[in-house]
Amino acid sequence: MSQSELAPLDPAKGVWDEHELTRRKFLEITFWSVTSVVTVGLLGAGSRFIAGNSFEPSTTSWVTLGPVAELTAGEVHRVNYSFKAKDAWRMVEQKGALYTFSDDAGATYTVLDGTCTHLGCIVQWQGGDNNYQCPCHQAVFTREGKVVSGPPPRPLRKLDAKIQDGILMAQI
Ligand code: FES
Repeated sequence: MSQSELAPLDPAKGVWDEHELTRRKFLEITFWSVTSVVTVGLLGAGSRFIAGNSFEPSTTSWVTLGPVAELTAGEVHRVNYSFKAKDAWRMVEQKGALYTFSDDAGATYTVLDGTCTHLGCIVQWQGGDNNYQCPCHQAVFTREGKVVSGPPPRPLRKLDAKIQDGILMAQI
């Protein structure tokens, strides 16, 4: 049947609009809208799963250095530590060494992270020279952690410390 054979439109019912929303077009728009929403939702959930906690601020831990009665004031003490911490997806063991000393008869303590700020080796206290020396690239730090020589770009990291019930603790 050709178009000319079709019955003319009744003017009372309006004119034919070829841009009118057809059933097929409506289903296409609905399908792509639902697909887009589901895809965005899945991508969001997937990226959250992959990223894990890696975008969250890392948590800190308090490490026990020991009773202050055993940390003789005026001397530098080394304390090795180790604890389990969550690193994004997995639990890892964090290890290191801290150095601590008191210049006010044990009222407060300075605590330094013994990790060299160059490439992460553990520095060694040399009481005879009154400094820390890094075995990896021969860096030297003062007792307070300032760089004397060598490649480290920064002083040793000073940690927050507190004495609780006679126990010295530091925040890693
Ligand atoms: S790691 Fe300590 S000087 Fe290089």
